[in-house]
Amino acid sequence: MEKIILDCDPGHDDAIAILLAAGNPHIDLLGITTVAGNHTIEKVTRNALSVCAAAGIRIPVARGAECPLVTPQMVGEYIHGDSGLDGPILLPATYELDPRHAVDFIVETVMTHEPKTVSLVPVGPFTNIALAVRTEPRIVERVKKVVVMGGAYTRGNVTPGAEFNIYVDPEAAEAVFRADWDVTMVGLDLTHQALATDELQERVRAIGGQISDFVLAVWDFVGSTYQKQYGFDVPPVHDACCVAALIDPDLITTALADVHVELHGEWTKGTTVVNFRDIPGMNHTNGVALRQTDFRTSVALSLDWPKFADLVVDAIERLSAPVVNR
Ligand code: BDR
Ligand code: CA
Repeated sequence: MEKIILDCDPGHDDAIAILLAAGNPHIDLLGITTVAGNHTIEKVTRNALSVCAAAGIRIPVARGAECPLVTPQMVGEYIHGDSGLDGPILLPATYELDPRHAVDFIVETVMTHEPKTVSLVPVGPFTNIALAVRTEPRIVERVKKVVVMGGAYTRGNVTPGAEFNIYVDPEAAEAVFRADWDVTMVGLDLTHQALATDELQERVRAIGGQISDFVLAVWDFVGSTYQKQYGFDVPPVHDACCVAALIDPDLITTALADVHVELHGEWTKGTTVVNFRDIPGMNHTNGVALRQTDFRTSVALSLDWPKFADLVVDAIERLSAPVVNR
């Protein structure tokens, strides 16, 4: 079992990540922490509780940072709508928020579990994770893995170079990439392969019931904004890829790289500068050859889509089954 904390900003693809984490038997979802990103902290926290209500999930939800560390706040309403999760019916919460701030929740959970047993899965801006590292630096050596949704080595989605989660809080992202822990960067290059195709949507439709309806409404709304904003035929399911990679590491291929976040560029702020180890002769930064130990981020390259789709369908089926059969 992989014990994880899902740090998210639901968000359409965040909602699917929650369902996958809660519905997969290999994941022990210790908690959901929220961070301002796709919308304000009030809205994304309400949405996290609504996803749990729709799916009958009872996992601690802790509210986190309400704005980025340094950079002025920006929200993703142009993709996720006025509520941050437009489309599905947003049910009221069925339980109370965890009383702790997300940063305290992360620190306490990591510090009270055995070393190297808890993984962090940040799929919104990395504000909470950076704050947790600054609050209790010992979490860096205790965390098992950090699997982030963010960045890109080919093309961004907010600017030509910058991906949304990194663009919103670049300083936090740089802090996470500089910490000495095992980080996997699941960027747009990978997540744009994780499409909610017609085939996948039909399989979810065939399950039927409240969760199936919820997921289809999620993809219907975000499918329309992705079509309008980016010309996609069907929407990507970005955030769920990180959970899937922890369930089955063979689902993605990766390559080691030294990753930095551009903090000051007029046109490039928030870009992940990805220096792959295995491009011969190119491993220099400012003219200085990098050491092998600098290449410590695993950057996701390709996805086994059929296996990914099977995991999503399986999780929705399990969550939809009567409680006795889960
Ligand atoms: C990321 O930005 C958000 O809109 C999504 O939830 C995802 O985490 C994709 O760039
Ligand atoms: Ca997200």
